[in-house]
Amino acid sequence: MTIRVIMDTDPGIDDAAALTMAINDPQINLELITTVAGNVTVDKTTKNALKIVRFFDQEIPVAMGAKKPLIKEFEDAARIHGESGMPGYDFPADLPAPMEISAVEALRDFILDSDEKITLVPTGSYTNIALLFSEYPEVKDNIERIVAMGGALGKGNMTSAAEFNVFTDPDAAKIVYNSGIPIVMIGLDITMKALITPETLTTIEKMNETGKMLHDIIINDGDNNSNGIAMHDVNTIFYLLHPEAIQTEKMWIDIVTDGPAIGETVGDIRGAYHNGKVNANVAVDIDAAAFNKWFIDEVSKMPK
Ligand code: BDR
Ligand code: CA
Repeated sequence: MTIRVIMDTDPGIDDAAALTMAINDPQINLELITTVAGNVTVDKTTKNALKIVRFFDQEIPVAMGAKKPLIKEFEDAARIHGESGMPGYDFPADLPAPMEISAVEALRDFILDSDEKITLVPTGSYTNIALLFSEYPEVKDNIERIVAMGGALGKGNMTSAAEFNVFTDPDAAKIVYNSGIPIVMIGLDITMKALITPETLTTIEKMNETGKMLHDIIINDGDNNSNGIAMHDVNTIFYLLHPEAIQTEKMWIDIVTDGPAIGETVGDIRGAYHNGKVNANVAVDIDAAAFNKWFIDEVSKMPK
């Protein structure tokens, strides 16, 4: 059985790797890609998503989304992902055009038209999804669940409290976490544990053109070092395919929307504040070796 997926993304090096896996794994049917401002501006994240679609000669529609967060000012992460957002590899220049409708309209149409419930996989800030739920709440009935990269029970990567995707648009994250839709939080608690090792990168580089492409962009990630590199967004796809390798705990997640802890995902780990009510299934541990093995295995089966 295939999993019907829409990815809402801000490529971004790890987003590009997540798209690569989602496009090519036969168990995933990636039906739509929507883009959002995040790692770089939305013009660039849209172009980068189209580069990945073109690289694999696919016809998956790409719709451009929000240029900025709901309320907060936009701040990019070009210091990590480079000015283009996906540096280090020469992608084909003849890119397909994005859809003429916006991300929110495309999400509405795809979700309402689908005869089966869809899994939403956001790997950037959740601005498009928050706008979708606010403008077209009827879509919620046709969403199976949201498997979202973002947040942390432990330390953040923007402030000591906040992870980048939630920090970028905390007001959107609050709407998504309060939406009533089952949500799996794939946060830094596991993504910082499952580093892609230098050995994995050396192995994929020689495997095929996809391995070379991934290697060449990943080594340009500003966080890459001799211990390895977190491929945060790829963990969402790994979870879809191998939930047994990721341990989760159910709890209520609150989003802090102002003050010094803005963007923090506060987990009610003992049901102390929300009386045991839960709104999320939070990834708390991962088999890092299995993640690396799967990553290599996926690259070895790429069509090019
Ligand atoms: C998240 O922030 C972005 O820079 C990455 O693409 C990932 O989605 C990690 O905090
Ligand atoms: Ca991302």
